[in-house]
Amino acid sequence: MAELKILVIPGSLRTGSLNAKLAAAIAHELVVAGIAVTRISLADFPLPIYDADLQAKSGVPKNAVNLKRMMGAHHGVLIVTPEYNASVPALVKNAIDWVSRVQDAHETRGQVFRDRAFAIAAASGGRLGGSRALSALRLILTACHATIIPNQLALSFAEEAYDDRDRLKRAEDIEALNAMVRQLIEFSQRMM
Ligand SMILES: Cc1cc2nc3c(=O)[nH]c(=O)nc-3n(C[C@H](O)[C@H](O)[C@H](O)COP(=O)(O)O)c2cc1C
Repeated sequence: MAELKILVIPGSLRTGSLNAKLAAAIAHELVVAGIAVTRISLADFPLPIYDADLQAKSGVPKNAVNLKRMMGAHHGVLIVTPEYNASVPALVKNAIDWVSRVQDAHETRGQVFRDRAFAIAAASGGRLGGSRALSALRLILTACHATIIPNQLALSFAEEAYDDRDRLKRAEDIEALNAMVRQLIEFSQRMM
């Protein structure tokens, strides 16, 4: 059987990002489970704010096509998003908006969302752990007809959530992470 590939996308570019740290912790568990993991930074796919006039004039930017193809080269995609004002940051929404406009040859527009499994996670210094951003992200991905696994991880009080090896230390977080990883693998395998 071909190896299972999962793409991990942190939704923050910030130095010391809580979400990049959580993405790294989840990626580690996926690797331990034998999965081929690619962890990217959206800094490597800079995109203008979506503008239909811009698309009509110049087409979909190359970085959106590249990001879409990067997603397309994996069976599962994990997005780890910050929460900004109870929703997803513009960085995450804008990337999804552009990718949803990409149409490669022999594909329908947005097919990349329909053909693979998605998992979502968030980290925040607050009590809710970015759970409102997760609701927003689930809605956005549902609009894209993505298969989104039911399990998710909202990491509250994220600054205090790790041990000195950058592994999650609270039992409930470890349990949520493991359940999400197991389910992401299971759903991604169905997409192979
Ligand atoms: C514009 C803005 C709005 C924010 N709104 C929320 C919020 O609604 N809920 C929350 O838990 N944290 C909120 N925060 C705090 C972020 O969760 C915090 O800055 C977090 O560290 C960002 O993620 P990162 O560390 O991965 O960059 C907000 C931060 C910014 C800059």
